[in-house]
Amino acid sequence: METVLSGIRSTGHLHLGNYYGALRNFVKLQDEYKCFFFIADLHSLTTHPHPDDFHSSVKIILSEYLAAGLDPEKSALFVQSDIPEICELYVLLNMLAYKGELERTTSFKDKVRKQADNVNAGLLTYPVLMASDILIHRATKVPVGKDQEQHLEIARVLARRFNNLYGTEVFPEPHALSFGKDLIKVPGLDGSGKMGKSEGNGIYLNDDQQTITKKVMKAVTDAGPTKPNSEMPDSVKNLFTLLSIVSEPSTVEYFREKYNDCSIRYGDLKKQLAADICKQTLPIKERIDAIYNDDEYLRKAVRRGTEQARESAAATLALAKKAVGFKVF
Ligand code: TYM
Repeated sequence: METVLSGIRSTGHLHLGNYYGALRNFVKLQDEYKCFFFIADLHSLTTHPHPDDFHSSVKIILSEYLAAGLDPEKSALFVQSDIPEICELYVLLNMLAYKGELERTTSFKDKVRKQADNVNAGLLTYPVLMASDILIHRATKVPVGKDQEQHLEIARVLARRFNNLYGTEVFPEPHALSFGKDLIKVPGLDGSGKMGKSEGNGIYLNDDQQTITKKVMKAVTDAGPTKPNSEMPDSVKNLFTLLSIVSEPSTVEYFREKYNDCSIRYGDLKKQLAADICKQTLPIKERIDAIYNDDEYLRKAVRRGTEQARESAAATLALAKKAVGFKVF
């Protein structure tokens, strides 16, 4: 059976991008595959979170995983830093990752622009750590959003390079997985780009109805179409994309027709969008609130997953080290 693996950084609550790009697919996959789902706390260190917040961020993501429907009996749930083998593989793979190719990744260039005062080596080698997360379990299917596509390509390059250099087949090539024909990019509410944690343009799984409605009603639009069948500006396209993700196809069609004949009222579209988002996320929010305070349940949820992940990681690392030529005296 093929192995599915994915993770989400522990930096605050999950937003709709994380949910529709990743978590919702994790939940769907767990009945069909051998699944590993983890919380990427090491990856979150690139931005130097305060120690007082570090563990609670991990706890938030774990609660949200469980609230969204991940079942610890079906999937191995664990925290990245509890599997030290990942870091050991990261060292081995770093020797095969070239500065030039890492500097060319879109996510790195983006970070250099956004946090110019903190361009650390961990940011540069972020895709190598991610490759280690995946390859340590020899996972072949990785459910992620569109923004992670390039990181998956690097994971494949490193797997191939390792296998070729050491004359082994220890690492299979991992591929991004989505349910539709393409990987998803959930747009933000500010009229540009994708929904992100640092962009302040998101709706979070733990937002209440009032917050969601307020955010959606404030979403950027234009003055409205003046000619039939005119091209939509990006901001309006984004609202339609969101609508197509959370609402029934007939609802999207209804508003599309209204747009095309210039009778659309953005206020109506936004009300519908807010209501449909709430329908999807409020039941999850209710569960998050209960789970977050249940330490015993959280502890149990990761116990079995951590054991499984360590066993699987140790087995792969032993093969990789043997291939490199390590021997115990
Ligand atoms: P992170 O924490 O930034 O995002 C977690 C997941 O959410 C997806 N995502 C989106 N999908 C669609 N639209 C959006 N607006 C949107 N925003 C985020 C991301 O594509 C991702 O799937 N490097 C990863 C975490 C990671 C990982 C791994 C993933 C670490 N190791 C190994 C897979 C395998 C990250 O930062 O994701």
